[in-house]
Amino acid sequence: MDAKGKKFFSDINKSPNCCYYIYSPLLEGTLDSIRENILKDSSLYHDMLYQIISAIDVMRKHGFTHNDLQSQNIMYKLDTKFKYNWYIIDYGNISHDDYPPSRLDKLRGPKTLDLITFVRTCCIINTAQKYLNKNKIEYPSNKRIVSRIKKSKYYEDIKKYIPNEFLNSPDTNENNIDMIILTIFILKQYDVYKEYIGFNLQTDNYDLICPNKELLEFIIKKCNSKNYSNILTKILSYSK
Ligand SMILES: Nc1ncnc2c1ncn2[C@@H]1O[C@H](COP(=O)(O)OP(=O)(O)OP(=O)(O)O)[C@@H](O)[C@H]1O
Ligand SMILES: [Mg+2]
Repeated sequence: MDAKGKKFFSDINKSPNCCYYIYSPLLEGTLDSIRENILKDSSLYHDMLYQIISAIDVMRKHGFTHNDLQSQNIMYKLDTKFKYNWYIIDYGNISHDDYPPSRLDKLRGPKTLDLITFVRTCCIINTAQKYLNKNKIEYPSNKRIVSRIKKSKYYEDIKKYIPNEFLNSPDTNENNIDMIILTIFILKQYDVYKEYIGFNLQTDNYDLICPNKELLEFIIKKCNSKNYSNILTKILSYSK
């Protein structure tokens, strides 16, 4: 850092001798800003999935949960060959299995399953919900939709995707189960989902954008595996 930069940081830290420098590579943009392009290109999509799920796998192996893995917290940088390198940022909500729960952990309740948040918020584009949000049209909460799914004929099939340990454990985070149910329902029954949220425009422009539903169903089924090597191998089998 040049002298001008050092002076700037010393000034905002109100001390000539002591200041924080936070190092992170300067990244070019968020996944959020280019999500549609990535989801429409199968090869970029599978590569992004591979890189981010490898990173989740590393965090998980070491006991960490990011807790906020949405598309604004994933960024890219193009390398010299114009290949996308993907990064997870914003560790402000992170928790660790061995640390006593922080104030935030207590407020938030049981930790989230990063892989499910990632699939739900980054790997599909729910165009119908996006339309309702954009036009400020109210629709039922996720909780209401999930409770309706549970009472429907579709639930028998959807239940098969919830890891058994989740169904049988008293300390399972209900939110994780709800998110699995909702995501599988969106993937497998998007037309019925649209009906449930009160979306009634009958045009193909509002399909679910997802290059590979079968892969996401597989990922969800394996979301509680000890490690994600099976998932990563499966992604590679789709990569060109
Ligand atoms: N390494 C980086 N390089 C370039 N831009 C970054 C970098 N880290 C963060 N940003 C930008 O800053 C934004 C916010 O960063 P971050 O997610 O870490 O904070 P935040 O707590 O979510 O802040 P806020 O909620 O106010 O957006 C990111 O969405 C991104 O646009
Ligand atoms: Mg953020």
